[in-house]
Amino acid sequence: MASRYVERFSAKERVLHWFVTIAFFILVFSGLGLYSRLFTGWFDLFGGGKGAILFHKIAGLLFFASSLLLFLSHRKEITTFDEDDRDWVTKRGGYLSREEEHFNSGKFNAGQKLFGIFIGAATVALGVSGVFIWAPTAFPRLIVQFSLLLHGLTFVLAVMFVIVHIYLATIGNPGTLEGMLYGHVRRIWARKHHPKWYREVGE
Ligand code: HEM
Repeated sequence: MASRYVERFSAKERVLHWFVTIAFFILVFSGLGLYSRLFTGWFDLFGGGKGAILFHKIAGLLFFASSLLLFLSHRKEITTFDEDDRDWVTKRGGYLSREEEHFNSGKFNAGQKLFGIFIGAATVALGVSGVFIWAPTAFPRLIVQFSLLLHGLTFVLAVMFVIVHIYLATIGNPGTLEGMLYGHVRRIWARKHHPKWYREVGE
């Protein structure tokens, strides 16, 4: 590898991330018609309502397992916050400011950490509520109704945050996607976005 680059993600981490992503999108498209009658047209993608439910259940199991694994594999980096992260949160990552802000971020900035924690919590909420919805007659009505509410709300929040995640990981911050596609990022990108991590691994 040319010396302009520094390793960011291993092949294992990348395969896991894209596996989670594919499962997530199958869940969204197979779940839209179950969420509201407005979207029943999406059932056609899965050969009808029954097919969509089958895809939703299989993708749900795969998403639950792989997303939890993704969270656990990044747990240490994602769940520890230091002074530099607090600075990032106080200044909202500089995204709402006209001035160019610089943050001394580690491997992930505070926003990415919060996103990672949210996805971990959402995975548990969707998975547990999903079990009650899967076999509704086996559980008390109140639990099933609460699960439907939690499942729907978490789904809407997750889609909103994932849209922001995709924007920030692509056009919002050019050079970021390279790391998840090829495993390495440019040194100049690492120094700018994650200087503390860069000092640890690459300088
Ligand atoms: C087309 C869709 C997606 C793209 C282009 C994308 C892109 C990326 C990139 C480039 C990174 C590395 C960021 C860095 O090096 O700093 C990343 C990290 C991550 N992605 Fe995705 N991603 C997508 C979908 C998803 C989905 C659906 C989930 C979960 C449901 C997800 C969860 C994560 C997590 C937890 C991380 C690590 C922490 C973080 O950066 O927040 N991604 N993604």
